[in-house]
Amino acid sequence: MAGKILVLGATGNVGKPLIAELVAKGEPVKAASRSGNPVSGAEGVKFDFADQATYAPALEGVDRAYVLAPTGTLDIPGTLLPFLKLAIERKVKIVLQSVFGVDADDSIPYRQVELFLERSGTPYVILRPNWFTDNFQIFWLEGIKHGVIAVPAGQGKSSFIDVRDIASSAAAALTSNKFDGQAFNLTGPEALSYGDAAAVLSKASGRSIAYKASSDAEFVTMLVNAGVPNAYAEFLASIFHPVREGWTAAVSNAVQTLTGKAPRSVEAYAQEHAAIFAA
Ligand SMILES: NC(=O)c1ccc[n+]([C@@H]2O[C@H](COP(=O)([O-])OP(=O)(O)OC[C@H]3O[C@@H](n4cnc5c(N)ncnc54)[C@H](OP(=O)(O)O)[C@@H]3O)[C@@H](O)[C@H]2O)c1
Repeated sequence: MAGKILVLGATGNVGKPLIAELVAKGEPVKAASRSGNPVSGAEGVKFDFADQATYAPALEGVDRAYVLAPTGTLDIPGTLLPFLKLAIERKVKIVLQSVFGVDADDSIPYRQVELFLERSGTPYVILRPNWFTDNFQIFWLEGIKHGVIAVPAGQGKSSFIDVRDIASSAAAALTSNKFDGQAFNLTGPEALSYGDAAAVLSKASGRSIAYKASSDAEFVTMLVNAGVPNAYAEFLASIFHPVREGWTAAVSNAVQTLTGKAPRSVEAYAQEHAAIFAA
């Protein structure tokens, strides 16, 4: 593989550790962001899904791309397909960050993008991460500061995955051909309920953090009050339905298969990030 690797969402949760890992491996990387600034030693390039004029320059000299939709994207096919079409025309290999469980139903928007890619004839790998462990320091941090994680998860369990394990899986998929044409459900090593996770975070931080199973309506109100647009808040509430049903509890060996290493547990994550939750 002689060309460069384009990483979309380069300043984000998965993009940042992915760029760091690719740069450490000596891979030529183009870090795409709306600013176009360099990221962790990788060349920067301006990229905005909303501005199609940025697509071709970003793809210049590229033979592999990591493609994800930024958090907050509601129209997944409308956002991803115009870029994917251009990349596929240029025979770029695509590693797509999708979402755990979307293969349950072909009408799910993310699944429609997966099907488009599968039928495109371009080399591809699909990664479907489960709920990020790191959400505890992103979406749920404000609540945790007040001693509570309030989400509509019921008693459902999820096999939370650390973003660094997603990044390592992506790096493996981008730098080897042996996973091409496959989809991987990325999970952590065990399934925990939000009550279990709150207990793990309490133990690591030395603070009492409780789980409150909220209703969808309470959850949407909380997010809207925190500045999340109503439509995205409602979307987030809707994706807790599979959690309550137990559909996000499955554990896979995909991270081990892709990276040769076991994924990190929530406990290991909590110990490493204890200072954030202790504050
Ligand atoms: N959180 C979870 O539990 C979870 C679980 C499974 C799957 N997912 C999926 O993972 C994806 C999010 O991944 P992530 O958390 O790594 O991403 P992220 O951190 O939310 O976003 C990545 C980057 O996208 C850039 N961005 C924002 N608007 C953009 C635009 N219009 N055009 C181009 N870039 C833009 C931002 O960088 P700049 O501001 O620098 O441009 C941002 O740093 C979503 O598709 C979500 O559905 C999330």
